Amino acid sequence: MTGLVILRSEVLVILRSEVLVILRSEVLVILRSKVLVILRSEGLVILRSEATKDLLYFVFLRKMRKFRVIMIETLKDTRNLPDSALEELLESHDATLAQRLKDTAREVCLKVKGPEVLIRGLIEWSNVCRNDCLYCGIRRSRLGVPRYSLTAEQIQECCERVWNDGIPTFVLQGGENPAAAEGLIPTIKEIRRRYPSAAITLSLGELPFELYAALKEAGANRYLLRHETANPEHYASLHPAGMRLDCRLACIRELKFLGYETGMGMMVGSPGQTTLNLIEDLRLMQEMAPHMIGIGPFIPQDGTPFENCPSGSAETTLRLIAIMRLMFPEANIPATTALATLLPGGKQIGIQAGANVIMNVYTPITERRKYSLYKGKTDV
Ligand code: 5AD
Repeated sequence: MTGLVILRSEVLVILRSEVLVILRSEVLVILRSKVLVILRSEGLVILRSEATKDLLYFVFLRKMRKFRVIMIETLKDTRNLPDSALEELLESHDATLAQRLKDTAREVCLKVKGPEVLIRGLIEWSNVCRNDCLYCGIRRSRLGVPRYSLTAEQIQECCERVWNDGIPTFVLQGGENPAAAEGLIPTIKEIRRRYPSAAITLSLGELPFELYAALKEAGANRYLLRHETANPEHYASLHPAGMRLDCRLACIRELKFLGYETGMGMMVGSPGQTTLNLIEDLRLMQEMAPHMIGIGPFIPQDGTPFENCPSGSAETTLRLIAIMRLMFPEANIPATTALATLLPGGKQIGIQAGANVIMNVYTPITERRKYSLYKGKTDV
């Protein structure tokens, strides 16, 4: 069945091959091949079908639970939902609904990505950073952080430990520092020479296009660059003047253009963030189609402008992981260290909500506590 259904005047229509979703706050209409379902806030379901047996459904939904469950199914089937429904999934106090969202995401993850959790070896190679992001514990102006950069030999030693643990993916992460990033080129070439089949992921911030190209040429093939927030004003409130969302997004586009598997992501609950901002993040990612999505709760760090701000919510983080799994079934989504810092067992719980990647830290113990992005990180 195809066609247009108009239900009252405020109805929004989204047409997909199999499913038609019409959703505006309290009204949901789903059209699945031969079946038309109309749900209303009063709880009445009217179901029409060419097949008489389908007429058996006639349900009163006083508590709207079924209505909400259908939202999850619709997200799963169409990989999309209107803003109002996303808002409801993120904010609902219905614990059963939230659990169902996570279970559905886990189910989709198992089906699309398989049962294996992918392990990455994270090497925090340097905490020297030219940026002064207001949330970050290694921001340039934060005093009392002993700065370090691993030598080429130390990086190779880390890679060897990662490889010997059976992990085929190295993630080299560090503060934003273009000169130092350029200095990494021979090291990356050497890693590529030693481990031809490994994945080399970089997370080194915003760099000139030519440098991204040179790092790719040297053997790197993945890059993580969180966009942090899709809202330009919110972005400006988290970063010093001079840093711009446009520039961040331009970098992400360049990385994709160069053929990197590219990751985006944001902090959940960063100061000033609203649920609507999170929905803007989801919309931006729908547009950019990242291969990887990293999200974690904001956690304040002493000695930063946000030191007295509250942490983000682990529960919202988990719901977002689940929503992202349903929106981007193929994406690699880690259960992050920040989540585990806030929530004991968070990595496992993140996997249960639809994440499929875990990053294990291989930074030498002596330097690990200096990579102090947020409070409590070293305890993990
Ligand atoms: N809390 C949580 N995550 C943080 N990051 C930086 N500072 C914090 C913080 N205080 C995240 C940012 C960055 C990644 C490397 O770490 O999202 O992209």
